[in-house]
Order: sequence, then C-alpha cells, then structure tokens
Amino acid sequence: MVWLGMQPYLDACHRRYGRTFTVRAAPVGDAVYITDPADVKAVFAGDPAVYHAGESNAILDDLIGPSSVLMLDEVQHRRRRALMTPPFHGNAVRRQSEVMAEVTVAEVDGWPIGRPFPLRPRMQALTLEVILRTVIGVHDGDRLAALRRALPPLADIGPMLMMRLMYPKLRQRWPWSRYDRRQAVADTLLYAEIEHARRDPRLEERPDVLAMLVRARDEDGTPMPDGELRDQLVTLLLAGHETTATALAWTFERLVRHPEILQRATEAAESGDDEYLDAVAKESMRLRPVLFNVARRLTAPVELDGYRLPAGIYVILALGLIQRSERHYPEPGEFRPERFLDGRVDPSTWFPFGGGVRRCLGATFAAVEMRIVLREVLRRMELAVTEAPAERVRMRHITLVPGRGATVTVARRKVPGSASGSPRGDTSGAAPTAR
Ligand code: HEM
Repeated sequence: MVWLGMQPYLDACHRRYGRTFTVRAAPVGDAVYITDPADVKAVFAGDPAVYHAGESNAILDDLIGPSSVLMLDEVQHRRRRALMTPPFHGNAVRRQSEVMAEVTVAEVDGWPIGRPFPLRPRMQALTLEVILRTVIGVHDGDRLAALRRALPPLADIGPMLMMRLMYPKLRQRWPWSRYDRRQAVADTLLYAEIEHARRDPRLEERPDVLAMLVRARDEDGTPMPDGELRDQLVTLLLAGHETTATALAWTFERLVRHPEILQRATEAAESGDDEYLDAVAKESMRLRPVLFNVARRLTAPVELDGYRLPAGIYVILALGLIQRSERHYPEPGEFRPERFLDGRVDPSTWFPFGGGVRRCLGATFAAVEMRIVLREVLRRMELAVTEAPAERVRMRHITLVPGRGATVTVARRKVPGSASGSPRGDTSGAAPTAR
C-alpha cells in the first residue's frame, strides 16, 4: 500500500477534492485517503478486527514470510507483537546505545574530508551495521562481513524486486529468479545465527533482539520456531534499515540549509542536550516523512467523515498531507525544531511511525538511534552550510528519499585544547562499517 504515495499527485487530489478522497489504482482497487485528525484518531483506536494492517502488507509475503509480525492480524498479531515488544522497550534499547555510538564513530571516521558526498548510502551502511550488532547480535568479523554482503539485496526494494512482488509469476523467469538465490544465501546465514544463539552459553546475558526472541515464550510457553525467527529478523531488517537511514539523511539535508539550527544542534550535541536533537529529528520526520502513508484494509463497513465505506477497501492515513498542513502547523514548509521542544506530539497530526496497535515496533529504537547518530556526527564533523536548493523528494518504491542522496561536505572538528586535533570521545576498537 505504501506505493500509493506519489506526493504531487496526492497534494493535487487533496486541493481539488478536499479532506477525504478516493484514489482508484490497479491492482489495489479503491483507496480512501483521510486527512482529518478526528478520523485518524478513530482509525488508530478502531477495532483491529475491522482495520487490518497485516492484509495491507500482503505484497511483502514473498520477502518477509507469512509469520512476520507485519503480515499478521487480530489475535495472531496481538500474540506475536506481545512476544516481540520487550526488546524494543526503552530500557532494552538504551542498553544498545553504546554499540550505536561505536558504530557511528567508526563510520564517521571513514568519511571523505572537504569534498561533497551523498550521505544516504553512508547512513544505510551505518543503520545496517547497527541492525547486525544490536538486532542479530553478531560481533564476529567474518560473520559480520558475510552478512554485510548478503543482507542489503534483501532489504533493497528496487524496481525489479517490486515487479516480482506485484506479479509473483515472474519468480520463475530470469532475471527475477536471481532473487531466489540471493534469498537462499541470506537465509543460510540467518539460520546459522539463530543456531548460534540457541547454542550460545551466554544467551541469557545477551542484550540483542535475536537473543531476547530466542528466550521469549508464547502465552502457552512455546518458543518461536526457527522459520519464524528468520521471518521476524528479515522483517526488522526491512522495516528498520532503510527507513532510519533515510530519516537521518533528510535530517542532515535540512540542517545544512539552516545555519542557525545547525549551530544550535551542534551546541546541543556538545552539551548533551538531547531534547533539542530529538526536536530536530521530529521536525525532520514531520516535513520529510520517509513513508507518506499508513494503510488499513476494512473487513467490515465503517463510517468516516460522513461517508459509509464498504468492506474490502483500503483506508489510507495520509500523514504526508496532514503533517504539512497549515491547519496543524503554522508555516508548514519551514524547518522549525522549536515546534517540538516541549517534547509532546499530537499522535493524530504527527505520526511518521503510524499508530494504534500497529504503531512502529521500532519507534523508540529509531528515535534513540537518530539522537545518537546526530550527536556523534555533530561532535566530530563540521558540516558545511549550503545555499543549494532543497533536494527534491524522490519516490523510491516504498520510501521518499532526498533526490541527490543528501549531499554534504564535512571537515573534522577540533577538540578545544587538543594539540592533536583528534575528534572527541573516539571509541577505539570499533570496526569500520561496510563501504
Ligand atoms: C525512522 C525510522 C522508521 C520509520 C519512519 C518507521 C515507520 C513505520 C511505520 C509507518 C510503520 C507502520 C505503522 C502502522 O501501520 O501504523 C512501521 C511498522 C513497523 N516498524 Fe517501523 N519505522 C522506522 C524504524 C523501525 C525500526 C528501527 C524497526 C526495528 C528495528 C522497525 C520495525 C517495525 C515493525 C516490526 C513494524 C510492524 C509493526 C506491526 O505491524 O505491529 N521500524 N514502521
């Protein structure tokens, strides 16, 4: 459903047809876009048996597998989600913050100095490395190297893979059949990690998500079978890698065009003012959301905004329209982190992570990771301000990415009073990320 997000077209529909409108798109059928916060609230609070989210992700089945939490609905979803929630609670995520900082320091160390480069691929390498270490719990050099090669093709939904997902019959034909081999290589490595975790004598102490999922037991005491663990790992990779990398890339794209905010964010990084860095990330996700829509498929008729909507259609919560509406945010096109300085958000007008029982499982994880990456990058690197026009929002299959990859130029910052000029707080021993 996320691919129904061509921004200029939806902007035009919104202007022409008002706050609720229908888009008819093959092969999906009718999709009703809603933009009124009261309706958003009603959908998020609505009965999960009526508002199916798993069904609206059906296209991903071939990629993430049938037992993925993203694919399930109702009781099955509730049970799986309950099992998967503890590793994503605030305390569990905070236990991973040191690894996130180490990975960032190692990544930043390899950046070219004084010449422009696109930041988004670097953020992709960084967020992949964070997932390898904190979600899959790998620290061994050879195993990390193999996973760095095998996993990105799985998470990179390019045009070929998108076609294969939409038209499953293509699976048997070249070049689409190549994808089966790549998936087999990645699966072999993931099953090896699951086996490794099961046999690990230190499993009880491990803080990573895989270890916690291996230890988890269902309501009736049953552990997750290997096949399901594999599906959940691929889901977490797919849901958490590209999204966080792109959100970070947009944040830096915005910062280098706003010198005063960049200056204040740099001071916040120096002084450990996390509130300001969090406000910068929130404002960036308001103005440049990575996903434009959140979707639910109706299993029964419902009434929204005075319309009776039939079972079978999709309801689309158009966060990309709502978050840029003057009705909710004065001068909505302006990048103003101050809007979020009191730490509060209205979940019906700011929901880059969706909402209700399907709200992004990794929202806290992503928020902590964004804060740490912003802090460590700004402490170490001086980002050159640019007068280049804002990068165009480019639709990349399921995400909205900066048109030129968030191009930046950086210089190493000197630590005040240090003769060597080495960046502050370097973490020795952190391995470089994939290049
Ligand atoms: C800035 C980064 C991220 C953004 C913008 C984002 C956004 C979203 C959105 C919009 C949804 C759908 C919510 C709904 O239907 O109401 C979602 C679901 C999900 N996300 Fe994220 N996400 C991010 C990072 C992550 C990370 C880091 C992880 C895990 C490592 C993750 C794991 C998931 C999972 C498992 C779901 C499915 C939840 C369910 O169906 O119960 N996400 N995310």
